[in-house]
Amino acid sequence: MPLVSTKEMFKKAYAGGYAIGAFNVNNMEIVQGITEAAKEEKAPIILQVSAGARKYANHTYLMKLVEAAIIETNLPICLHLDHGDSFELCKSCIDGGFTSVMIDGSHLSFKDNIELTRKVVEYAHPRNVMVEGELGKLAGVEDEVKVSAENALYTDPSEVEEFVTKTGVDSLAIAIGTSHGAYKFKGEAKLRFDILEEVERRLPSFPIVLHGSSSVMPEYVEIINKFGGQMSGAKGVPEELLRKAAAKAVCKINIDSDLRLAMTAMIRKNLAEDPANFDPRKYLTPAREAIKQVVRHKLVHVLGCNGKA
Ligand code: G3H
Ligand code: 13P
Ligand code: ZN
Repeated sequence: MPLVSTKEMFKKAYAGGYAIGAFNVNNMEIVQGITEAAKEEKAPIILQVSAGARKYANHTYLMKLVEAAIIETNLPICLHLDHGDSFELCKSCIDGGFTSVMIDGSHLSFKDNIELTRKVVEYAHPRNVMVEGELGKLAGVEDEVKVSAENALYTDPSEVEEFVTKTGVDSLAIAIGTSHGAYKFKGEAKLRFDILEEVERRLPSFPIVLHGSSSVMPEYVEIINKFGGQMSGAKGVPEELLRKAAAKAVCKINIDSDLRLAMTAMIRKNLAEDPANFDPRKYLTPAREAIKQVVRHKLVHVLGCNGKA
């Protein structure tokens, strides 16, 4: 099976009231953990690569790891650029075989965001590549871009029709209160479902994307803290809120931090418990297994996409 696009995935997810998990990949163990979980749960999956991941692991290595995952799982897998920040980066990923790209113009003015996004769509669509745009700014840190909680902006629903019509995007990331990283909420965790519902009303049957959707699973934060880490106050999006969003217009839910936490927790634990070990396979095996268990949990209990491949 070749890499697939998100078009069919999103159509079925919208109709079925579930969402596809978009998990960030940076190395072999992460690709394996995610795709082994998807295979066991018979789930369609989006593997996404940030500019930082591409710099770290190299485009060719990532492509080949994902190709290997398709051979091993025979699953519908989409390869997506996460937070593309320029036309050139999107073009390079499209030319290099990705089946979907995000152009994140959310830091630009509405007019400039439309212009940049439309340029990417015009290049992508004749090559059968889908494009995700973003309206509204999430708090948190991605690569070079830091957005403080005070500067995070909810998506303005009155802008979405014009944005989608003028750009031709295939899906839209919106800001309703989620944020990137492991410290998402100081007080009560709250999502603006009123905004999501208004966007859904204005864009019927249109796939919506939620970034910053890790739950920051307390069991892994606890292990990190127990074995020398310092992550007090880490807090994520409650899973029941994500499930509620997945049943609505949200068709793609982005998860990265939960995988980082699981991997780091198991590496810390393993090295602390076996200080004489210097064989990376011995600490990467439980780390990969933890990623797999986290992804299985998300597929079944958060996204509801198990059995949908
Ligand atoms: O939203 C950002 C993702 O978590 C990727 O993070 O840019 O550090 O690879 P990164
Ligand atoms: P988290 O940091 O919540 O995992 O979000 C990841 C993300 O949105 C990637 O684009
Ligand atoms: Zn994101």
